[in-house]
Amino acid sequence: MNNGNYNNRNNNNYNNTNFGYEPEVKRRYTPEEVGHDKFRKPVTRQHRKRHRKVNVGIVLMTLVFAVIIGVCAYIIASGNRDDVIASIDGGTTGSEVITTELETEPPKEIKVTVTESEMHMGNLILVNYAYPYAFAESEVNEIVTVASAKNDNYVVRDNTIQLRKSTIELFNGMMDDMFAATGFNYLQVNSAYRSYDDQVSTYEYYKNANGEEYAKKYVANPGNSEHHTGLALDLNVNRNGAISYVESDADCEWFRNNCDDYGFILRYTPEKKYITGIEGETWHYRYVGKPHAQLMTELNLCLEEYTDYIKAYTMDTFVLTYDEGTVNKVEYDPELEADYMIYYVASQGEETVITVPNFAEYEISGNNVDGYVVTVSK
Ligand code: DAL
Ligand code: ZN
Repeated sequence: MNNGNYNNRNNNNYNNTNFGYEPEVKRRYTPEEVGHDKFRKPVTRQHRKRHRKVNVGIVLMTLVFAVIIGVCAYIIASGNRDDVIASIDGGTTGSEVITTELETEPPKEIKVTVTESEMHMGNLILVNYAYPYAFAESEVNEIVTVASAKNDNYVVRDNTIQLRKSTIELFNGMMDDMFAATGFNYLQVNSAYRSYDDQVSTYEYYKNANGEEYAKKYVANPGNSEHHTGLALDLNVNRNGAISYVESDADCEWFRNNCDDYGFILRYTPEKKYITGIEGETWHYRYVGKPHAQLMTELNLCLEEYTDYIKAYTMDTFVLTYDEGTVNKVEYDPELEADYMIYYVASQGEETVITVPNFAEYEISGNNVDGYVVTVSK
């Protein structure tokens, strides 16, 4: 048995060169022998064994790190997802950066649903012998006395005269500018809103005073008068009791020339009587809104003609633009750069969905015939 005695080694097993002999592997070697090729094998095996231990440690540590990193990544990702959800839900806990990244462009257009009853309302409704007024309660409720809402720059025949409040306010604005421009304040509202019964009385009055033929020429059938709308008014001049016509009074020149810029038109001209069914009336003005009054004046169209004319302009074909007094026919674009963009939308029945630009002022008016007119302004 080898006791590990260096001296013994030198004397026996080593010199026997018995390399396959097991006890030899278990011997202890001198430092000199360790460096010898013949004994490198066991040493190397021992090293390998140590390396395996180290590698397993590294692998384990790597695994632990990987698990930690994975868990951290999941937590961060979960947190971000919560932020995103919070920001989409309108929550206040979301990260600003992520919220900003997820913001979507607001739509350039919106859909507006109008009902059939609205086709009979609005500044552009055509009321004549063929298209009666619908007397919507919401509109009739807007009627007030002119005296209660007027300013001092014009006069009203008496305190019973009524008109739609919004029309009075628009008329007030025009009268302010007229007085500022001319110093004239004798324009008079001679007749304005009339209920169905008022129109019956008016017809009877003129029939009795001037005969039925006259009444038929100048007074619309009850139910078919623009005076029901609260958008029409009969004007003359009253200089402290001295009455004259707007048409011939020199002081009314400003009014005649500028009323369209305020949305008012002279509704019944002699040349259009075969279309309107009414004789020329130099006193009857109607609010239709700007730019329609300007367009009708420029194009010399009465409301019946204009109602038809505007139908040619739709979103699917071409829309009308009115830009600094110039009429154009262009393709619809919700971001169109023009003073006004106008288009017609045919009624789809009980409900009609109308597309309008999201970032512009717009007005929708029924035409009281078969659809709606959209007026988009800058
Ligand atoms: N004078 C107009 C036509 C009306 O009676 O309505
Ligand atoms: Zn009238």
